[in-house]
Amino acid sequence: MNEAALQEAIANPQNIGEMADADAVGTVGSPDCGDMLRLWLKFSEVDGKKIIDRASFQSFGCQTALAVASMATELLKGKTIEQAQNLSAAELGAPLGPLPPMKIHCGQMVEGALRAALNASSQDPAPATPPTPNQPSGNLAESLVAAPTTAGRIKISLLPR
Ligand code: FES
Repeated sequence: MNEAALQEAIANPQNIGEMADADAVGTVGSPDCGDMLRLWLKFSEVDGKKIIDRASFQSFGCQTALAVASMATELLKGKTIEQAQNLSAAELGAPLGPLPPMKIHCGQMVEGALRAALNASSQDPAPATPPTPNQPSGNLAESLVAAPTTAGRIKISLLPR
């Protein structure tokens, strides 16, 4: 694992925050550690192809998940849907190099959020109803408050701004 790349991503994370005008959102929680991550995508069209214009994320997870999500949201810019669908967790966090075994799920959480967002975006037409706790798209922290949880089961780490 590339420690310098990890430290740089932690010190200067990219694309953190809720995206109010997103076209798709995906949320995952890790059964391994209880961490959560939400990814937003905004699409545009270039030469008749739908591409990812920008991506953002919120994470209540570890520093590795934060780093992979930061790198992934940069990597996704300009990718077609097909290209994004084929990206693995290792590719999304490529600058970090191979993750140690106990951290592999951190990258997979980012991949899972991406897949969830892409799957949601392929289900046209998009629902016009506002999000519910079971189909969240807004602020991740607010969803955690709204969702029925057992106190103490979700570890929350505040992210740097
Ligand atoms: Fe669970 Fe990294 S996301 S330890």
